Amino acid sequence: MIDKRLFKLKGIFHTLISLIFMTGIQGLAILAQGIFLAKAIVDFWQGKETMSTVINLTFFAVAFLVRQLLVVIKNQHMSSYADETVETYRIQLLKKYTEQGTTIVSEQGTGNAVTTLGVGLDNVKNYFQLLLVKVFDLSIIPWLIFLYIFYIKWEQAVFLLLIFPVIIIFFIILGLAAQSKADAEFLNFKNLNNRFVDALRGLPTLKQLGLAKKYSAEIYQISEDYRKTTMRTLRIAMMSTFALDFFTTLSIAVVAVFLGFDLLNGKMTLLPALTILILAPEYFLPLRNFSDDYHATLNGKNAFTDVLSMIEQPQVENQKILQLSSWHTKNQLSLKNINFSYDNQPVLKNISFETKGYQKIALVGESGSGKSTLLNIISGFLLPNSGQIKIDNQELPHLGQVDWQKNFFYMPQHPYIFHDTLRENIKFYAQQANDDEVNTAVQQAGLTNLIDELPEGLDSIIGESGRQISGGQAQRIALARMLLDDQRKVLFFDEPTAHLDIETEYDLKQTIAPILSKHLVFFATHRLHWLDQMDYVLVMKNGMIVEQGTPKQLLSDEQSQLNQLRYELGGIK
Ligand SMILES: Nc1ncnc2c1ncn2[C@@H]1O[C@H](COP(=O)(O)OP(=O)(O)OP(=O)(O)O)[C@@H](O)[C@H]1O
Ligand SMILES: [Mg+2]
Repeated sequence: MIDKRLFKLKGIFHTLISLIFMTGIQGLAILAQGIFLAKAIVDFWQGKETMSTVINLTFFAVAFLVRQLLVVIKNQHMSSYADETVETYRIQLLKKYTEQGTTIVSEQGTGNAVTTLGVGLDNVKNYFQLLLVKVFDLSIIPWLIFLYIFYIKWEQAVFLLLIFPVIIIFFIILGLAAQSKADAEFLNFKNLNNRFVDALRGLPTLKQLGLAKKYSAEIYQISEDYRKTTMRTLRIAMMSTFALDFFTTLSIAVVAVFLGFDLLNGKMTLLPALTILILAPEYFLPLRNFSDDYHATLNGKNAFTDVLSMIEQPQVENQKILQLSSWHTKNQLSLKNINFSYDNQPVLKNISFETKGYQKIALVGESGSGKSTLLNIISGFLLPNSGQIKIDNQELPHLGQVDWQKNFFYMPQHPYIFHDTLRENIKFYAQQANDDEVNTAVQQAGLTNLIDELPEGLDSIIGESGRQISGGQAQRIALARMLLDDQRKVLFFDEPTAHLDIETEYDLKQTIAPILSKHLVFFATHRLHWLDQMDYVLVMKNGMIVEQGTPKQLLSDEQSQLNQLRYELGGIK
C-alpha cells in the first residue's frame, strides 16, 4: 500500500511531521466536537438553563470549524508538496528522455513514454496527495477516540478495538484482489497506449496494405480489454466500499444496542452513552475514507513504480573527465575489447579499433550485426559493459563525455523535423547563425528547390501538422544543420540514405561527400558504393569486428569478408 520509497523523497520528513501534528489536533477537535455536542443535547434534554446549552453549542461549533479547517489546510499542504515533488520528477524524467531517448523509447514504446510523463505523473500526484493524508488519519484519529471511549467505558472500547482488525483483515483481502486487477489494468493501459501510437504512426502503411480495418478492430479489442479490466477493478473497489459500510454500520448499531441496555439497566448515564454513540462513527470514518480512494492510490502506486524505475535506470552521466577542445588531425580514439549486452544478450563482443585525425570509417555488415549499437557506444548514448576507451592518452569509462559530445554531429536514418519554420529547423543547433549563413547552408545542402516551391520560403511551417516533406528533403535539412555548425569535427551517420531511391541517394551523395573531408567520420551503411568516400572499413558480423582495413586492401582480397558481404548484398561497385 505504502511504497517504502516514499520515505526517501526529498523533504518528506518535514512534511510528515507537520501532517502528524495537524492530524493530532484534528483528532482532538473531533473529540471536542463529539463531547460538546453530547453535552448540549443532554443539557437541552434535561431542561437546564439555555446559557449552558448555548456555551456547549458554541464550543461544538468552534471544534467543528477547527476540524474542517484542518482538513482544508492538510489537503493544501499535501497538494503543494505533491506538486513540487511531481514537478521534480517531471524534470528528471525529461532529462532522462533527452539523455537516453532512443534507448527508452525502444524499450518502452513511444505511447508509454508519453503517458508516463502525462497521465502517469498525474496519478503519482494523486497518490502522494491522497495516500499520506488518509494513512495518517487512519493511524491517529481512531486511536485518540479509542482512548477517550476507553476512559469513559472500557467495555465499549474493547468491542470497538476487536472489530477494527476484523474489518481491516477483510479489507486487506479485498485490497489484494484489487491490487492484482489494478496491475492487469495498468499493463493493459500501457499496451493500449503503445498500440494506439503505433497505429497512428503506421496509418499510411496500414492503408496502403489495406489493413487499416483489421487493425482498427484490433485496437477496438485492446480498448475493450482495457475497459473490462478497469470495470473488474472498479467492481472490487465498489464491493469493498459496500462491505466496509455494512460492517461499520453494523458495529455502530451493536454499540448502540449495548449502550441502550446499559442505560435501561441504569449502569450508565445519558451523557457518556451519547458521547460514545456520537464518537463511534468517527472512529470508523478514516477507514471508510481510506477505502474510498484505495483504487485511485493503486493506480498511483503503479505509476510511481514506473516513474522511479525509469529515473533509476543506470544513466550515461555526461561526465567531464575528458579534456578536449576541437577534434583535430592529431587526436586519437581507441576502443579495446569493448563488450555490450542488451538484457544479458551480448550484442557487441571484443570490439577493438583505433583511429586518428580526420579518418573516414565505414561500418558495414549484415542487418543486426551491431553497427547502430557500436555507433551508440562511440557517441556515448550507451555504456559499454567492459573494455577500455581512450582519447589521446586519457582513459575513459565511456564516451558520455561533455567535451566529446560538443564535438560530434549525429545523422540518423530519419532525422527528426520539428514543427516549426524551415529556418528554425535548419538553425536548430546553431541559433546564432545569420541569414547569409543559413542561405549558404541551404544552397550547399541542395534545399533551394524546396524553398522555391514553398510560398513562404524559409518561413514555411514544416514537420508534424505542417507542410510534409520527403525523406530526402529531411536528410537535406539535417545536412544543412550540419553545415551551419562547423565546430563539430566528428560526424556519425547511421544509414542516412537507406530509405531513399537510387537517384535521390546519388544526388545526396554529391552533397554529403564534400562535407566529409576534414572530419572524423563513422558511417554505418548497407550501400557499399559509399566505400569510395571512406578510407577505412570495419566489417561487422554477429557483434564482432571480423575484418578491418582500407577498402582497397579488403576489396583486392578475393577471400575477404567484405567481398563476401558485397556478394551477399548484390554488391554495387
Ligand atoms: N533496444 C534493444 N533491446 C534489445 N536488443 C536490441 C536493441 N536494439 C538492438 N538490439 C539487438 O542488437 C543487435 C544489433 O542491433 P543493431 O541495431 O546494432 O544492428 P545493425 O547492424 O545496426 O542492424 P541494421 O543494419 O538492420 O540497422 C540485434 O540483434 C538487435 O536485435
Ligand atoms: Mg542499424
